[in-house]
Amino acid sequence: MEWDAETYAQKFSFVARYGEGLVEMIHGEGLSVLDLGCGDGSLTQLIAQKGHHVLGLDASPDLVKRARDHYPELQFVLADAVEMEVPGESFDVVFSNAVLHWIPREKQSVVLSRIFCALKPGGRFIFELGGYGNTDSVHAALRCEMERRGLNYTMPFYFPTIGEYAQLVEQSGLLMRKAFLFDRPTLLADPDGPRNWINMFVQDPFNGISPAVKSQIITAVVEQLRPSLYRDGTWCIDYVRLRGEAERPA
Ligand code: BEZ
Repeated sequence: MEWDAETYAQKFSFVARYGEGLVEMIHGEGLSVLDLGCGDGSLTQLIAQKGHHVLGLDASPDLVKRARDHYPELQFVLADAVEMEVPGESFDVVFSNAVLHWIPREKQSVVLSRIFCALKPGGRFIFELGGYGNTDSVHAALRCEMERRGLNYTMPFYFPTIGEYAQLVEQSGLLMRKAFLFDRPTLLADPDGPRNWINMFVQDPFNGISPAVKSQIITAVVEQLRPSLYRDGTWCIDYVRLRGEAERPA
């Protein structure tokens, strides 16, 4: 994935805004927190403002650079969650907002084991990712328009059910304490909403497809989505969240 950090920060700041509720799930004072997939660092900064000692980690050089430029007083590392090597038993909390759905199903266990190792005994893994059914209408329209042109659409995200994810979490040694799957219809302030959303987030399925054909496909997808997702002059995407908390047993 190539991240355009500037566009991300300008047009998709709602990702971090919605994540503020997840930060409220961090209970305690002066905790050591790993912000896994910290993006442009907005939530890392909010966690620090609450008095915690936080390390931001992200795999995108552009986003980590932006985070370091905007929050020079905070610490950020460039690393992939699948390969991260953080000192064992060093965090009270591993926090992750809107990141884990980027990791394929077959690599989830590796990441969860790394989270387990990074946590102190008694530490908490507080997370939110796209849940089962997340943004279904966009992916269904993309599949339909690509197949109509003889192309394949391979879903580039992992959006698990509570049952499936809880099983993976517990296989890593963590104990699931809370999990919620809920609809969170998400308004896009941008009038060109779905086009920019697809351009930003759905990259791999368009590999090898010319820019002209890509643009035609996206135009057709936008028109297919308009009757169901465009209301009163605003685009609203059918987000579903899987939010939870797990504990490394003491
Ligand atoms: C999400 O946060 O649910 C999400 C963001 C981009 C693409 C797909 C899902």
